[in-house]
Amino acid sequence: MPPITIYLILIFSLFIPPHPTTADQSFISSLITQTGLDFVKNLLISKAIPTLTATRISAIEKTVRIPVIGKVHIVLSDITINRVNVGLSKIKPDVTGVTISGSDVTCDLSMKWHYAYGTWLGPISISDSGTARVKVIGMETGTKLGLHNEEGSLKLYVINCNCHMRDMSIDLNGGASWLYQGVVDAFEESIRSEVSKEIIKKLKAGVIKLGSVVESLPKLIEVDDIASLNVTFVDDPFLSDTSLGFGINGLFVESKKDNFLFGEMLPPPVSCSDPSKMVGIALDEAVFNSAFGLYYNAMFMRWVVDKVPEQNLLNTAGWRFIVPQLYKKYPNDDMNLEITLSSPPIMRVSNQNIDATVYADLVIDVLPGVDTIPVACISLVMTGVGTVQVTRNNLTGHLNLDDFTMSLKWSKIGNLHMFLIQPVMWTLIETVFLPYINARLEVGFLLPIFRGITLQNAEILFRDSRITICSDFSYKEPFDPSRTLVYSS
Ligand SMILES: *[C@@H]1O[C@H](CO)[C@@H](O)[C@H](O)[C@H]1NC(C)=O
Ligand SMILES: *[C@@H]1O[C@H](CO)[C@@H](O)[C@H](O)[C@H]1NC(C)=O
Repeated sequence: MPPITIYLILIFSLFIPPHPTTADQSFISSLITQTGLDFVKNLLISKAIPTLTATRISAIEKTVRIPVIGKVHIVLSDITINRVNVGLSKIKPDVTGVTISGSDVTCDLSMKWHYAYGTWLGPISISDSGTARVKVIGMETGTKLGLHNEEGSLKLYVINCNCHMRDMSIDLNGGASWLYQGVVDAFEESIRSEVSKEIIKKLKAGVIKLGSVVESLPKLIEVDDIASLNVTFVDDPFLSDTSLGFGINGLFVESKKDNFLFGEMLPPPVSCSDPSKMVGIALDEAVFNSAFGLYYNAMFMRWVVDKVPEQNLLNTAGWRFIVPQLYKKYPNDDMNLEITLSSPPIMRVSNQNIDATVYADLVIDVLPGVDTIPVACISLVMTGVGTVQVTRNNLTGHLNLDDFTMSLKWSKIGNLHMFLIQPVMWTLIETVFLPYINARLEVGFLLPIFRGITLQNAEILFRDSRITICSDFSYKEPFDPSRTLVYSS
């Protein structure tokens, strides 16, 4: 069997014609469930701990009155947080924001101490120095984040941030025996407040950093030189007691073209039947149809078939008994078949099913010598059922054809007997058209998901003109960590 070579100038396949509506609608929405938020929280905590450890706190100095000895000037310096351990942590969304809290937090600090004092005997001063360890236990921290949409970007800000310490033990190496009580009495409160202040500062700085990464997310993800996916955030994030949702525009656009808008607005809650899934992503059928409309308008849905499994179909001799007048006019000449989509494919998502309708024109060309002579054009309307699945982070599909109808659009060789042509068309559709479409669908298109995140155990539901993907995910630090959180395309 000769290889199938199809020259095509591109297609992005599955299948609706534009019906205009208003701007700022969301056609892809995702909802992170409590399970997904827990995952994100663990990730954020694992990122926050290294920034908290090795934190230097400015020196604290005081002159304290010690019984018998008198006034002593004590300095605690090189105060460093060496280890932080978060015993319990929680993430809790509510309609006003998302709170991440840590309790049972312990941290170990090291520091240097130094003291000096004068004696009543004269101007001789006495001084000493050494090290100390401080252990903070039962610390609680809470950071509440607010999120809102600012001109299509997501803005993250701190609503409040607090840090409380329950107990602290101070362990001095060396020094006089009076020093311990002196340090505890005079410095415990200062250490508490300085450490809390520093932790709060670090947590706030972490949120600002995360916020600037989130804010700088691109608004368009380029798919190829024809289409980009508009990932502009639409509306404020949707917050409830159990989840956090985002709406993005989600339509394919061409930068230099006017934006087509389609369909009905997608209400923010995404419904997954399995509540333990970490994330739900709902894609309106308009997302796919925007792609079809775009590629169709770019006139890319056209290809020339010059090799088919039954090669005799590409010579007028093969059509001798089907279209006798063709063979008579052009005996034994080679032929080409030119397939053009005559209007954008249409895809409809109903309960349980994806129905697709593809409109195509098939032009029969005869090639006597160097010329290409179009001799007839047949209009085809193919209907089928699509299936979709998630392969890594791509939404991929497969189309099974159910039926097709055909009619003669024009002919330069007189009338054709459609009932004779029908089986030939079916063969061409099954062996050339469908495998081509399916090869493209199997590659799929990349879902707008942050870099480093991989969907796992995805489940797909069809409902109310949307495809909903309910999935778990894992996270692996991207190769270039500075690009963490950037979309993976
Ligand atoms: C992308 O979507 C936003 C929000 O719906 C819209 O305002 C913007 O015009 C869109 N961008 C393009 C290039 O179509
Ligand atoms: C996912 O889709 C993109 C865009 O169509 C494609 O370039 C890529 O190869 C696909 N990835 C996989 C794993 O199929």
